[in-house]
Order: sequence, then structure tokens, then C-alpha cells
Amino acid sequence: MLRDDVLMILCTHEGYFSGAEISRRLGVTRMAVSNAVRALRDDGYEIDAVTNRGYCLRGTPGRLTQGEVCAFLPEQRRALVRCFDSIDSTNSYLKREAMQGAPHGLCAVANEQTAGRGRSGRDFRSAADCGIYLSLLLRPRCAPMEAATLTSHAAVAVCQAIDRVCGCETGIKWTNDILLNERKICGTLTELTLEGETAALDSVVIGIGVNVNNRMMDFPLELREKAGSIFSETGQTVNRAKLTAAMIEALDAMYAAWEHDRFAYLQQYRDRCLTVGREVRVLRGDHVRDALAQSVAEDFGLRVRYADGTEETLNAGEVTVRGKNGYI
Ligand code: BTN
Repeated sequence: MLRDDVLMILCTHEGYFSGAEISRRLGVTRMAVSNAVRALRDDGYEIDAVTNRGYCLRGTPGRLTQGEVCAFLPEQRRALVRCFDSIDSTNSYLKREAMQGAPHGLCAVANEQTAGRGRSGRDFRSAADCGIYLSLLLRPRCAPMEAATLTSHAAVAVCQAIDRVCGCETGIKWTNDILLNERKICGTLTELTLEGETAALDSVVIGIGVNVNNRMMDFPLELREKAGSIFSETGQTVNRAKLTAAMIEALDAMYAAWEHDRFAYLQQYRDRCLTVGREVRVLRGDHVRDALAQSVAEDFGLRVRYADGTEETLNAGEVTVRGKNGYI
């Protein structure tokens, strides 16, 4: 949309940008540019217009939009990014699109989700204007089991993006919750679809929800001890469009590495895994056992030792691990 193209230009330039230059770059008339600017203002963008100088973006409405996200992405990536003001769930959207033949690399981003989904069938709170709700569609050519390491790789990629853009140090709670100051700021939900007849892997949708600019009072009371946002932990209001773009680029780089080596990020995952060395509670169905987390195994499983001295490598799909003391 022309409106998004104009926004993209204004987002990536500080100061004034001439209307003539915008119309030349986009191959449209000055009138079309002026109409696009009017539409952007109607949407809440503050844009100054000064004769002989052009337009200058002074303020944004605080929503995550296609134009703003794409402004931070290289041109060749933009075509496969779809940004929604509000959607049921970016994972559900990509699964529907995948069934219609959508390509590898398609990315869905939302400013709000009305039916965001978390792991184990839980809801994922996805309030407008404060978080990032992002899903990536992948079509790896491999057996379903081989795709199991993708989620841990994605967690590392998201940590890299957050650390780079926000200057903080995130860690991972096994298996793939991202923590800042021991509070969960990000969760990941990966969903696989298989071909009906052959049971071959058809698509993988990796969904990531980041609490970015939420204030503590935005969280329900029962979550306040364990949940946080980048804002609540660092005091900085983060440009969500910039962080979204950084996440997309980090996920793309992750996939390129994973294609060649299914364990490419194992060492980085180990370095970031905060669960190791902690006392944990292992939940398997109704059965609960306390253990000490020893290490991250070669297959990203969690190696634990029980009080009786026996050891076991836990597999993400079959158990849940909770910290015995505090969140981790
Ligand atoms: C969890 O912590 O339980 C996982 C949360 C995953 C939430 C993300 S937000 C984007 C994508 N769309 C969804 O409906 N869920 C994932």
C-alpha cells in the first residue's frame, strides 16, 4: 500500500524528506503522496509538512504496522511479512495459509491477538499496543522428529534480537521460555502439520509472544511474581517495529544455520540456559519429583539428577519442569 511505503521512507529518515523525492522514489504523483500523508495522519501519525523542506515524522500512534516493521527490514524480506492490527492468532493464521500453499518464510505479526494460544492448550494474553506476537512459517525438508530442535534454536535467535536491540541479557528457562531478571518475558509455541497420506512434515509454524512495553499493572495479580516485560525490567520503552524486524532477521539467520546443522545453536543454548544448576520439580502427568538440573544434553534434553542419585535426560515433549524456588 502506498501509505505503508510512504511511512517506511519517513520512518527511516531523521528530519525532513521532500515530497518530490518521495513521489520520485515511489513512482507516484505528488498528490498521491499528499493523500497518503493525510491517511497516515488520520491513523494517528504526527507528520509535519513544511514548504520547500517536505515531510517529517514526529510521532507514531504506538501500534505495530506493516510500514513501520518493513522500514527496518531489507527490501527483499518485506514481501513475505504481513502485519495485522488485530487477528485471532498469528499461529492459527499461518496454519490456515499453509494449508492454502503459503511459502516458506511467510511471517505474520500482530499488534493484538484476540485468541492467542500458549503451550498445553493455555490462552496467551495478547493485549494491543504493548507486545509482539509473531509467527514464522517454515517448510523444512526433513522428518518431523528432526524439526524438534527448531524451537530451541528459535529461542536463542529471539534472545539475540532482544539483547541486540534492547542492550540487555536474556536467558532461557528450559525448554524455551525467555527470561529477563528471572521473569518470563517471552514464550514460544511451535506447531507442526503433517501430510495426511504420507505423514511427511508439511509445515512448521513457530509462534513467539514477547512482553515488550507492558507495565506490571497490565499483568493479572497471579502472574506478577513470575511475568515481566522488557519495559518492566529495564525501564526502557522499546520500538516494537525495530525489535520485530530484528527478530525476523535473527530467525532467518537461525534457519539458515539450522538447515546445515540441526544443532548449530546448541552451545549458545547451553550458554543461555538458566535452568542448569537449579533445583527443579519434574512433572510427568500426576507424578512429581524433585531433581537437580545438571546440563543440557546433546539433543537439547535436560539432564537431571534425583535425590537417590539416579540420572535421567528429560525430553521437552513428555515433562514439564518448574523451579523449586522462584520461577526458574
Ligand atoms: C507459551 O508461553 O505458552 C507460548 C506462548 C506463545 C504465544 C505466541 S504469540 C504469537 C503466536 N500466536 C499464538 O497464538 N501463540 C504464539
